[in-house]
Amino acid sequence: MGLMNNHGVLERHSLLLTVGILVVVSIGGIIQMAPLMYMDNTIEKVDGMRPYTPLELLGRDIYVREGCYVCHSQMVRPLRDEVERYGHYSLAAESMYDHPFQWGSKRTGPDLARVGGKYSVTWQVDHLKDPRALVPESVMPPYAFLAEKPLRTKDISARLRTERLVGVPYTDGMIENAEAHLLAQADPEGRGFEFVDDLVSAYAEAAGREGSFELRDFDGDPERVTEMDALVAYLQMTGTLVDFSTYEADDLENRR
Ligand code: HEC
Repeated sequence: MGLMNNHGVLERHSLLLTVGILVVVSIGGIIQMAPLMYMDNTIEKVDGMRPYTPLELLGRDIYVREGCYVCHSQMVRPLRDEVERYGHYSLAAESMYDHPFQWGSKRTGPDLARVGGKYSVTWQVDHLKDPRALVPESVMPPYAFLAEKPLRTKDISARLRTERLVGVPYTDGMIENAEAHLLAQADPEGRGFEFVDDLVSAYAEAAGREGSFELRDFDGDPERVTEMDALVAYLQMTGTLVDFSTYEADDLENRR
């Protein structure tokens, strides 16, 4: 038949074949992308999402620096076994303030998208210092040195400003007081005392609710703010911002 003969022509002319492939692939691409261009928003609106506190943000930087994503994903897929193990599947909105996102593609260890609050702060610190002390068969490396390294905080305002540049809604007050806010979260009864109220109200306003983070010394050493404080503050927050007892996936209002 004619179609079969024409196919021979395509196979003998590599340039024609290339053009043919491009045409076919672009049709697929357009079908996939065009609907997205006509939607106002591809991220569902959910209550509770807020920018990370300065301490959480620096903790997240350490998570990235140490390559935790090499062994841990942060995305619960909408499959029954995952949802039963980790909790509600991840929403796009939950990583909307992640630059870059930490979805990952490798799970040597468990998914961490919802690890916040699963363990106590002391468990997290002990586990990071020596994973095998708590989970004897663990292949996770120890990160005890984080508890010895003072957290570098002096450029935190610039760090927040950079996040704002790529769309994270940090307010002027959050940026200006970032270092004081950081201290308020990690040492609320000591050096950070004066800024506790300011920190709480700024981030409660962004989240639309109070109590979305803990104010405390995380690493067991109230004298210093270390990288361990920041990383554990971050871990304890992951997956806890959206309140799933009120979230309705099929509510069409959420999709607009
Ligand atoms: C070489 C791979 C590897 C790397 C790198 C790694 N982990 Fe792990 N992690 C694991 C494995 C395996 C487990 C499961 C055993 C255990 O609990 O120790 C685990 C468990 C965990 C858990 C407990 C999760 C749960 O639900 O029980 C946390 C939290 C965690 N890792 C955080 C981190 C952080 C933070 C980093 C980076 C500083 C990191 N991991 C780096 C392999 C890794």
